[in-house]
Amino acid sequence: MQSTGDTRGHWGSRLGFILAAAGSAVGLGNIWKFPYITGQHGGAAFILIYLALVFTVGIGVMLAELAIGRMSQRNPVGAFARLKGGWWVAVGYFGVAAAFLILPFYSVVGGWTIAYTVKTLTGALSVTDPTALAATFTAFAGDALEPIAWHGIFMALTVTVVLGGIGAGIERTCRILFPALLLILLALVVRALTLPGAEKGLAFYLTPDFSQIGTEMVGAALSQVFFSLGLGMGAMITYGSYLGTRDNLASAGCWVTLLDTAVALLAGLAVLPAVFAFGMNPGEGPGLSFITLPAVFARMPGGMVFGMMFFLLLVIAALTSALSLLEVVVAYLVDEWGIKRRTAAIGSGAIMFAIGVPASLSFGPLANATLFGKTVFGLLDYISVNLLLPTGGILIALFVGWVVWPRAATELTPPGRLQPRWVTAWRWLCAVVAPVVIGWILVKGL
Ligand code: TRP
Repeated sequence: MQSTGDTRGHWGSRLGFILAAAGSAVGLGNIWKFPYITGQHGGAAFILIYLALVFTVGIGVMLAELAIGRMSQRNPVGAFARLKGGWWVAVGYFGVAAAFLILPFYSVVGGWTIAYTVKTLTGALSVTDPTALAATFTAFAGDALEPIAWHGIFMALTVTVVLGGIGAGIERTCRILFPALLLILLALVVRALTLPGAEKGLAFYLTPDFSQIGTEMVGAALSQVFFSLGLGMGAMITYGSYLGTRDNLASAGCWVTLLDTAVALLAGLAVLPAVFAFGMNPGEGPGLSFITLPAVFARMPGGMVFGMMFFLLLVIAALTSALSLLEVVVAYLVDEWGIKRRTAAIGSGAIMFAIGVPASLSFGPLANATLFGKTVFGLLDYISVNLLLPTGGILIALFVGWVVWPRAATELTPPGRLQPRWVTAWRWLCAVVAPVVIGWILVKGL
């Protein structure tokens, strides 16, 4: 997929771009994390805060990244260098560095999801006792070999798709996998809601308990918004850079945000009612998908099929997201260093695999190797998700709101296509609201 006069790839169509970008956004963050964070923070009140942040800060930064990418037609480093230069280029380098922190631990969990799909099929998880399943999970994740092999398989799949390039690799894969993801998710929602006793879960999910709202919860919601939409490190700058000049960025960005939010809400609807229907604890935390849910599936009629569908859903979601994380690095190496896509993808994939090894061992042999009370896995997650992404988000918003402003506005939408007050609202979001809100939460959280 190469256009004349330019060796960079391009998306084949607007729908292809939306599916690829939605594939990046919809990931483990939506299906693994969102239900358990909602469970831990008391349900509906958390969802309201989350939604409020998505439709202000989230959408503002999403459109900012897309505009920067399309304007510059470059990876994050090259984008800031072309548009302004100077210290701003550091924002791009932070983004590339963040990919090296996020993808390794993401791929470890991605490996778990492939392993659990297989284990469901072999009947190894057909156990109704959560304590036994917890032991199974701890033994599996803490093993020095098995999860690392699955992590390698996950990473190899990611590299294989990215090797194929933008149109023939990423876009084609997401065109097939994203619709499949939606179908599987809908089937799981219907199954969960038709279980006897699902109402209790529904009530928990939909009745807000405002006493739960506090700084910690708002901070968790904001980190979740960045992680879930895949913002703050230039993934959307990179994807936006493969867009042609005719596409309407504002509507594409809104579609991606809406799809991501819808999938997170549906995942909660697939998971929480089922957990309640079998009298289990929704506040289980990260083990909700890997410990509580297998017990739920083991008790439900047709549970093996639904269990396999659930883990396959996680595999698809994780893979289409991992593509964007790797593509940020590959785009940088290809644009800035003239390295071949193939070499760039395999080389950076291998390094990320290596960084993932100690992250995986954090659940076993390296469980006690901690810094500031965090394991390697915990540190990678904390530094990238709680520090780098929000900081990147502030700088990206300020850049659009102040540094490239009038041009960014025409980039977002051809004059007259969008009512001027929406364009003004977006400027306020970028120039003032997003930096202040993110900055305040960052400082509070430290
Ligand atoms: N959004 C994905 C998820 O919800 C993860 C992800 C993909 C991501 N690309 C990203 C997170 C870029 C941060 C930055 O699982």
